[in-house]
Amino acid sequence: MNKTAARTAIVTGASTGIGSVYASKLARRGYDLIMVARNAERLEANALRIRQETGQNAEVIVADLAKSFEVSKLADRIADDASIAFLVNNAGISLQGGMLQNSLPDAETLIAVNITAPTLLSIAAARAFAKRGGGGIVNISSVTAFAPEMFDGAYSGSKNYLINLTISLAGKTRDAGIRVQAALPGPTDTEMWARGQVPESVIPRSMIMNPEDLVTAALVGFDRGEILTLPTVADESVWAAFEAARQGMRTSLAAGRPAPRYLQPDEAASAS
Ligand SMILES: NC(=O)c1ccc[n+]([C@@H]2O[C@H](COP(=O)([O-])OP(=O)(O)OC[C@H]3O[C@@H](n4cnc5c(N)ncnc54)[C@H](OP(=O)(O)O)[C@@H]3O)[C@@H](O)[C@H]2O)c1
Repeated sequence: MNKTAARTAIVTGASTGIGSVYASKLARRGYDLIMVARNAERLEANALRIRQETGQNAEVIVADLAKSFEVSKLADRIADDASIAFLVNNAGISLQGGMLQNSLPDAETLIAVNITAPTLLSIAAARAFAKRGGGGIVNISSVTAFAPEMFDGAYSGSKNYLINLTISLAGKTRDAGIRVQAALPGPTDTEMWARGQVPESVIPRSMIMNPEDLVTAALVGFDRGEILTLPTVADESVWAAFEAARQGMRTSLAAGRPAPRYLQPDEAASAS
């Protein structure tokens, strides 16, 4: 991240939690800000603090990213405002109680906020930044993407979606000078975590990261050019082995015929 070239960063979900910390840290890196969320009062308070602490501009956009027309307006802003060079798709929600306990509209809202909005904003940003000669896009995923057995599949699945989106977009935009990163927080001490009311017996307090530490680590990962950043994973070889196994499967994914174990016994006999 080049401080002298830094211009405007959009951070969604900047009214509290991880997004609010991203906004502060990006301002300290020299970015002006566009801070997006629904709660105008909290956004204004954060923006005022950031202006006072850093001297950077901080604009507030009150928008509900579950509403497609509000996402479209934000995408248009990214396309039209030549100063925008960085996007953090941070806004996200989880469903309290899991997908079988919640209403279908609740699941639809989760998909809108966690999948549709970051997809459309990432695409808008990638196109715009390519024309502007570069930029950065950060998608806030989650370690739950790798633990669907432990967490609600709609939430964890939405976070896995962001990994796929990020890896694909990073490959397609590298030559245009765009860096795309997915950051995968583990349990982080925000209101989202508090709302989940996960008992100490399930996740001890010592496993919950401070959001300041999380965002600092995620930005270091961005500076290192990482496409996926796992701030909680100390042993990089674990991740390298996972990636190697995934890549190793690629040659088997398109075989043109079923694997022998999926043949009916008579077909297997005639095939052999
Ligand atoms: N905390 C964790 O343990 C953890 C772990 C892994 C990943 N994450 C991910 O990190 C991101 C931030 O989470 P957090 O822990 O900071 O959560 P948080 O404290 O609940 O903050 C969520 C932010 O998203 C905004 N938001 C929610 N719904 C929105 C909507 N419909 N339109 C616009 N903005 C909306 C909220 O603002 P308003 O309410 O003002 O709209 C708020 O600013 C999420 O994507 C989450 O999935 C969190």
